[in-house]
Amino acid sequence: MKLVKTIEEVRNQVREWKKEGMSIGFVPTMGYLHEGHGSLITKARENNDKVVVSIFVNPMQFGPNEDLASYPRDIEKDSKYVEELGGDLIFNPEPEEMYDEGFCSYVDMSVLTEELCGLSRPVHFRGVCTVVNKLFNIVKPDRAYFGQKDAQQLAIIKRMVKDLNMDLEIIGCPIIREEDGLAKSSRNTYLNSEERKAALVLSKSLELAKEKLESGCKDVEEIRNIIIEYIENEPLAKIDYVKIVDTLTMQQVTTLDKTVLIALAVFIGKTRLIDNLVFSRV
Ligand code: PAJ
Repeated sequence: MKLVKTIEEVRNQVREWKKEGMSIGFVPTMGYLHEGHGSLITKARENNDKVVVSIFVNPMQFGPNEDLASYPRDIEKDSKYVEELGGDLIFNPEPEEMYDEGFCSYVDMSVLTEELCGLSRPVHFRGVCTVVNKLFNIVKPDRAYFGQKDAQQLAIIKRMVKDLNMDLEIIGCPIIREEDGLAKSSRNTYLNSEERKAALVLSKSLELAKEKLESGCKDVEEIRNIIIEYIENEPLAKIDYVKIVDTLTMQQVTTLDKTVLIALAVFIGKTRLIDNLVFSRV
């Protein structure tokens, strides 16, 4: 396993692999890897000759009052983990390598990026789409792996690839959770022990909603209210949004007869966490 910091090194390696006819699976990350990331790397390992993982805390996707400076980092631990999982190359650039002084090109998407997380994080998806686009151009993967944990991000990337005719396949992978149900996230490390317990309202409220849906409830507002009430009972939790939307367009639905995405973002203390559930009656 190799760790490189420059675009040129990635390009040279990828060129050699491609010359030998090898396929490339790519897992973009911001590091501080956990089993959620690990599941994507494992999937990429199964389906490709070579696996590239990028570890880059992308400044462009953080708003001015967000956690760019404090975002957790541990490149040594991450490298060992990627090696254990059979990754072949880590790309770990400095911000200057990705964005030089005159940088001024962006991938700006509309509609999908304006809902859910896009409302409270207005610059976020522009940063995500721009960096993912750059990474695809650098790594030139056959397949790229993204987690359903970030359901809106996955939908946006799929749409971007389709809209801009990018020549690769996007593979979505299921949410990996802690034993008690909390979705794994690098940001869970911000939680103290009290907040860690309180954070369970995200997964628990979704479970409640699922039970209600399975019992036949067809009322969107009733489902939303069950989630909201459950979360509001926890003093450390503050809701950013609870929405029930179409899985492709991210637009709010009025009926529950198609497959829907129930997505939520909740502040636990100062930490903003997200979780979601896809529900289909068919
Ligand atoms: P990051 O938050 O590090 O996540 C990298 C990938 O891991 C994303 O596709 C995310 O959905 C997936 N992931 C995180 N937690 C997961 C979990 N519990 N189960 C399954 N998959 C999980 O998402 C980003 O980085 C960035 O926005 C990035 C795409 C790298 C662009 O900078």
